[in-house]
Amino acid sequence: MPSLTSWLDAPPDAWTRCLARALVHHEQRRWSQPAQGKALGLLFFASSLRTRTSMDLAAAHLGAHAVTLNPGQGVWGFEWRDHGPDGQPSTMDRDAAEHIREAVGVLSRYVDALGVRVFATLSDHDADHADTLFHRIAEVATVPVVNLESARWHPCQELGDAATIRTHFARLGAERGTLPQGHRFVLAWAPHPKPLPRAVPNSALLMAARLGMHVTVARPDGFGLDADILDAARSTAETAGGSIAETDDLDAALAAEGGAHVVYAKAWHGAAVYEAPDDEAALRAQHADWMLTTDRMQRTDDGIFMHCLPVRRGVVVDGAVLDGPQARHLLQAEFRLHAQKAILEWIWGLNEPDQVA
Ligand code: CP
Repeated sequence: MPSLTSWLDAPPDAWTRCLARALVHHEQRRWSQPAQGKALGLLFFASSLRTRTSMDLAAAHLGAHAVTLNPGQGVWGFEWRDHGPDGQPSTMDRDAAEHIREAVGVLSRYVDALGVRVFATLSDHDADHADTLFHRIAEVATVPVVNLESARWHPCQELGDAATIRTHFARLGAERGTLPQGHRFVLAWAPHPKPLPRAVPNSALLMAARLGMHVTVARPDGFGLDADILDAARSTAETAGGSIAETDDLDAALAAEGGAHVVYAKAWHGAAVYEAPDDEAALRAQHADWMLTTDRMQRTDDGIFMHCLPVRRGVVVDGAVLDGPQARHLLQAEFRLHAQKAILEWIWGLNEPDQVA
């Protein structure tokens, strides 16, 4: 049975099938029992509102049972390392009471899939770039593992966001084109008091590329996404009929060629966070004027505003945008439920082609 680390690593037809199923679940809003008798373990090493709620409910909607665990909070703290810095087998003589080899080994005997959230360290570039913490869990699990946000990727958000955009264009009708392909998508860097991971912007970029949109990444100097992510997005977009561009001029990106159709705002950390975190913080603080405002949204072609949430009003985006007609952030959050039902169906072999509407 498959695991889901990122959609780049998934079988090519899995994305298409899951996107179709997410749209069906949105239309039907039905509880059923195809996964009756199955259990889902959810390991959260970081906070969550949407993912933990929608994943628990996705399991329930399909007839499965979910168990949510927060290691270190009512659950033993975990040791991750097999070896110490000297290369010798690690000795668990500090706080951690249980090694992930035992913890995940045991959970694999109780459940039929594990969902795992583990954020970026923001202190160890190589570990974050390789998604080491997520892969450590996936390597020792003997059941499928679903990425609920790792250092690099947020595939559940990615699928829900794609379904949100598909639904938006379908509702616009034939006059504006019923598919996202060929429309303009701006991934807009946003200010934030903290250095945030890049899983969501990485995933949003690949998602828009996969939909064949013309994507502009608008970010200040020093906040460019990793070259390998941009390269993957470029080849994905070209295959799907879209394109990828970068700029440090947010207002020009929003207004270009008649205006953006989708604006996806997200804060993420600068490249310097690993070597010089104080410099990164100082640089980030210089760009508070990148906040998304109603004036900026009026530069778009009646574009929709998207954000994965949680979002800081008055910092990332003006509250008037969130409360206005262009906002789709709540629909995005709703689509997390529909998308994760589709992902569970896929990993459990419940959405074979003849079951995809
Ligand atoms: N967007 C998202 O993953 O939200 P949570 O962090 O609340 O799960």
